[in-house]
Amino acid sequence: MTDLPPTTHLVALTVEGAQATLTLSRPDKFNALNVAMINELIELLEWTADRSAGRKDALHDAKGNPYFRTLVLAGEGRHFCAGADINMMRDAGANTPEENRADSERLDRLFHGLWSHPCFTVGAVQGVALGGGAGLVACCDYVVATSNVRIALSEGKLGILPAVIGPYVYRRLGSATFRRLAMMASRVEAEEALRIGFVERIVEGVEDLNEAVKAVVDEVLTTGPSAVTLAKELTLGFDRWNDDDIALRDWTLDFTSRMRGSNEGQEGLSSFLEKRPPNWKPDPEA
Ligand code: COA
Repeated sequence: MTDLPPTTHLVALTVEGAQATLTLSRPDKFNALNVAMINELIELLEWTADRSAGRKDALHDAKGNPYFRTLVLAGEGRHFCAGADINMMRDAGANTPEENRADSERLDRLFHGLWSHPCFTVGAVQGVALGGGAGLVACCDYVVATSNVRIALSEGKLGILPAVIGPYVYRRLGSATFRRLAMMASRVEAEEALRIGFVERIVEGVEDLNEAVKAVVDEVLTTGPSAVTLAKELTLGFDRWNDDDIALRDWTLDFTSRMRGSNEGQEGLSSFLEKRPPNWKPDPEA
């Protein structure tokens, strides 16, 4: 990328080819999400989304710099994320209803920005992911966690609710599991996290996270970037569908024909018939 990313202090951005990695960097507070950190995350999610291959419908810019195709979210230190900053939430309680709402809207923008990000998103999670941290996990497309992972919708223990993260956790886990975890507010360990679909893969320790993330990223890079982005749009459409079944089927037909006729669809279908790799597949020799 040629243009400079936003300056941030609590979230580090690293760029490696078509991959952007965002690392929560407030390890002394176990990466608890305060206002500054939430704002930085929102800014970086928007900055990377605007430079994604899916949104640009191109693999690289005019100078040959790759657009983003994968986004990794990690946390520095012992824990991935201890959730929303409890000081921030307590102070918000003394604010006006309007200020309180603005606070929640900021959180909503963060979770929705991650959930609907045009890149394939991978969470690399160690230690705890509590409250808002569990929300970040739920928003990722694929999550690799270490065997010491503990995820909780812990809000209930503080007398508050996992409401802003609710839609994303609900979509990931389903109704019964979401409400059980919201009511019990207890910690889910590795085996259960895998079984209920909160995470996709468990590795032994933090030193194994990178390799597991790389394996997923390598796989996703062989999928067309617009197919990745539009698969998410398709899912968002299903999530929000409030029309009848005929209209839904009609909508899927539009999607299908649009993709077949697209540059990417034509490239994918032709490359298969011509027995060559599609232009989005990384060259293993490069
Ligand atoms: N917001 C603000 N500060 C937090 C925090 C949060 N969500 N989670 C941890 N911290 C702070 C602690 O207050 C402490 O600060 P201090 O060093 O100034 O006293 C520091 O991080 C270390 O936490 P501590 O509790 O001493 O460490 P621990 O190893 O015993 O436990 C946790 C770590 C993360 C398990 C524990 O801090 C915890 O349960 N935090 C609450 C998480 C939560 O409920 N989040 C959901 C919010 S909706």
